[in-house]
Amino acid sequence: MTAMLSVKNIHQYYGGSHILRDVSLETRLGKVTVLLGRNGVGKTTLLKSLMGLVPIKSGTIDFDGAAVQKKTPYERARGGMGFVPQGREIFARLTVEENLRMGLAYKPGSTPVPPELYELFPVLKQMLNRRGGDLSGGQQQQLAIARALAPKPKLLILDEPTEGIQPSIIKDIGRVIRMLADRGDMAILLCEQYYDFAQELADDYLVMERGEVIARGAGKDMEANGVRQLVAI
Ligand SMILES: Nc1ncnc2c1ncn2[C@@H]1O[C@H](COP(=O)(O)OP(=O)(O)O)[C@@H](O)[C@H]1O
Ligand SMILES: [Mg+2]
Repeated sequence: MTAMLSVKNIHQYYGGSHILRDVSLETRLGKVTVLLGRNGVGKTTLLKSLMGLVPIKSGTIDFDGAAVQKKTPYERARGGMGFVPQGREIFARLTVEENLRMGLAYKPGSTPVPPELYELFPVLKQMLNRRGGDLSGGQQQQLAIARALAPKPKLLILDEPTEGIQPSIIKDIGRVIRMLADRGDMAILLCEQYYDFAQELADDYLVMERGEVIARGAGKDMEANGVRQLVAI
């Protein structure tokens, strides 16, 4: 199966610190690729590099058959890369509906918010006119995912979506991620520290430590391969 995203040999520095060391990975349509690692190993830096939010020093990023490492974040988003940032980054003073419309910013102005987003996250429908800042953390996370889905991306990148969120909403988010993958028209890259959540969803996994990928394999082998111990705090 051809890769939706193919990342090869990325190096990245903050000042003199070598933050990403020769990172390579692939994501596939219809599959969830899980990236696990403790705090500070470089997960967010990697995801921001994929989106073009921080420049890479060397390496290549192919997305949907084209090299994108020189493209702007805007061009990558327009090309079909969707990003749910760590901490959600909801616009607190905008309404839920306006936040969703931000996800369509690079589409023609008449593009409607896809109604199916309200089926995936019914709570958003009830709260359309509330301000983003008035939502609970879990509701904001659902809004951040829906905002990323609004332009119908081919790749959805999520940075620790379970962080600080109550268990019932974590379950809902897990169900949505599985369903999106199973439809077969999207690849998902899920970055997590929460092992059980990641393991349940993983078709493929990678583990990072100090900026390097130290283990990878099929999701079904995670337990046998001792990944739980690798990321235990
Ligand atoms: N803007 C920045 N400037 C300098 N160092 C940073 C910056 N952001 C993160 N770092 C450092 O880079 C390393 C990786 O951070 P990060 O990518 O946020 O890790 P993770 O998402 O896995 O917790 C950490 O050592 C962190 O302190
Ligand atoms: Mg992070």
